Amino acid sequence: MRRRHLLRFSMALWGAAALAASLHAQPAASVWDGVYTEAQATRGAALYDKECGQCHGPAGAGGSMAPALVGPAFAANYDGQTVGDLFDRNRTTMPPGKEGQLGGQENADITAYMLKVNEFPAGEIELPSQGMALKGIQYLAFKP
Ligand code: HEC
Repeated sequence: MRRRHLLRFSMALWGAAALAASLHAQPAASVWDGVYTEAQATRGAALYDKECGQCHGPAGAGGSMAPALVGPAFAANYDGQTVGDLFDRNRTTMPPGKEGQLGGQENADITAYMLKVNEFPAGEIELPSQGMALKGIQYLAFKP
């Protein structure tokens, strides 16, 4: 009898530990926390106009060649993902035919500009260009 209680107790403990670990793994920051700077978004805007705007339109408004990078459909695609997912999408698939040719810093700057045109607030620290750090920033379409 005693043993069974002990077993049940240790199972409960294990469950609590697993829950704590999974909570801990949740991204700590979100796009609402000011995760890029204005200066970075300005650099990103120049790159965007050169590399992306001819298809995606001015400020991501969309064009006949490519979907909008702002607005409800775009928000729905990234809501609940991370900025790392958006960064990877830019880095590995865009611009078509030149995939992977923009550097990490350039992609971070373009991604910062995308956060700006999607009306997320700027802050004091630049958006990093390392995948691991970017995966820690959640993309939430609506302010939590
Ligand atoms: C030659 C035209 C063209 C250029 C230049 C281009 N794109 Fe795209 N982009 C597309 C097309 C077409 C799609 C939709 C098909 C697809 O997903 O591949 C797309 C899709 C995307 C998506 C996915 C949108 C979503 O709702 O999931 C992102 C993000 C994106 N582009 C970012 C960029 C960025 C950033 C640049 C510049 C570095 C860029 N694109 C340059 C044509 C282009």
